[in-house]
Amino acid sequence: MSGDITAAYERLVQESESPDALLDAIIGGNKDSQLTDNLSKTQPEEAKSSVKQQEHLALFDPVIPKGADANKPNGSTFSDPAFSSNKNAPIHRWVPWIAGFSYEFVQDAIVRHLRHKGTVLDPFAGVGTTLVTAVLAGHDAIGFEINPYAALACRTKLRSYRIGPRKLNDHILSFNKFYSQAIRDNYSPRSEVPSGFKTRSAFYSPPVLRKVLIVLDFIKAVEDEGVHDLFKLAFGSTMIKYSNYSYEPSLGRRSAAGKSDIEDFPVGETISGKLREMVQDIVWMRQKMDGKAPSVELVAESFFDAWSALDANTVDLIVTSPPYLNNYHYNRNTRPHLYWLGYVSKPSDSKHLEEQNFGKYWQTVRERERIELDFDPGNGDIAESLELLRGKTPEKGIYGGNGWANYAAAYFNDCHRFTKAAKYLLKRNATALVVIGNSILQGVMIPTDRFLAKIAESVGLQVINIHVPRATRVGNSIIQSDVRVAKAKDSHQLYEAVVELRKP
Ligand SMILES: C[S@@+](CC[C@H](N)C(=O)[O-])C[C@H]1O[C@@H](n2cnc3c(N)ncnc32)[C@H](O)[C@@H]1O
Repeated sequence: MSGDITAAYERLVQESESPDALLDAIIGGNKDSQLTDNLSKTQPEEAKSSVKQQEHLALFDPVIPKGADANKPNGSTFSDPAFSSNKNAPIHRWVPWIAGFSYEFVQDAIVRHLRHKGTVLDPFAGVGTTLVTAVLAGHDAIGFEINPYAALACRTKLRSYRIGPRKLNDHILSFNKFYSQAIRDNYSPRSEVPSGFKTRSAFYSPPVLRKVLIVLDFIKAVEDEGVHDLFKLAFGSTMIKYSNYSYEPSLGRRSAAGKSDIEDFPVGETISGKLREMVQDIVWMRQKMDGKAPSVELVAESFFDAWSALDANTVDLIVTSPPYLNNYHYNRNTRPHLYWLGYVSKPSDSKHLEEQNFGKYWQTVRERERIELDFDPGNGDIAESLELLRGKTPEKGIYGGNGWANYAAAYFNDCHRFTKAAKYLLKRNATALVVIGNSILQGVMIPTDRFLAKIAESVGLQVINIHVPRATRVGNSIIQSDVRVAKAKDSHQLYEAVVELRKP
């Protein structure tokens, strides 16, 4: 970090006498500040474009169906659940997440379904869109998240308003000084590349690696737990930007996507910038939370292992989006985060994440002879779709229909487990809103929304409605990947739905 940047930032902090003044000074002057100008000037062109790419990561970007008017209401009573609007919203903007949904969607749901203070549950919390929105609205929130990096993001956001912005500022200033001195003085970092982290080509270039290791030395020395987590998250949420990998939407080498490698990058400045964004948002959240004292719990475990610790009939609203039936591999796509943040040190450490993931992964079940539905699917259509799928392309062996039918069966078994748990936890007349996308496997359209609704009915929940706020989505890895399947037929459309359930 250049001396100019540190000095400008120090001035901003010192001139701010109260959190309000700090807010004005940082947020008010943010866009035009010397600091921001200097920072952006230090970013090479290539690096700037890679930042943009990463910030727009969303598995399913909205696509306007041919002939549709982009400005027309979607005919649904819900706002579009796509994550993209979160990237400008305080707190939500900290971490991009795969197939996350928008905070506006959750706000809508809360306003409609909670007249008084209540408990909101998200069993598949991701980076915490539901929980943060619930807490900001003054409700109690409880969530489960199996991926340790997503759980870090979720927990850190939820706790952040309890951290004094000044304390975080002081740490940012110390970081700026330490980093710029280390760069200048030929400091040798003590941190090392995580030993078990193997990649096909160098994850970081040598100059970037040195900078990253300097950053990690600083983070390790931060004693305050809350501040330590914020620094970890600032590194985790930016670490792909300066690597030789990118999301396309799965994580792969930049070179394989036709992008040039990142030779050097202002790593410290980027992390410092992320932390300053956090200070702004914490000040904002503290104001919003004034006088509210919600109880908040994030359990960093599989919902299926841990939900039974909760009491029956205690949840007022569920707003959630489980993984879709598209085999998006949350663990592989967060592998750098899991290793570099110290959650995993060898492949076997993350095995349980694959096995306990909602619906498992195709890779974990494709070789099995036959996975059966472990509940009664009622009249034909779920079983029929699975049989149709099972019979496709047997000549492809484990890549053929049987492997995909095993994956779909494991997925619907988890839909069954989830809806049973939801029924147990919800209070009478309470609602669950489940955002889910349909799938096309081996050319067979699987209407996961209708199947989930049917399964929910079979466990005794009422299906109030299936809303379809978004008619088409793209980026389904199953359709795009040549490993998997020939292109889906044009006649099938991908959509996302909100399945509205109620406990009678
Ligand atoms: C579609 S994402 C949810 C995104 C979230 N709505 C948001 O806006 O951040 C699904 C999440 O479920 C998590 N997950 C998968 N299986 C789980 C399990 N058994 N228990 C808890 N979380 C799980 C995944 O790690 C992933 O973060």
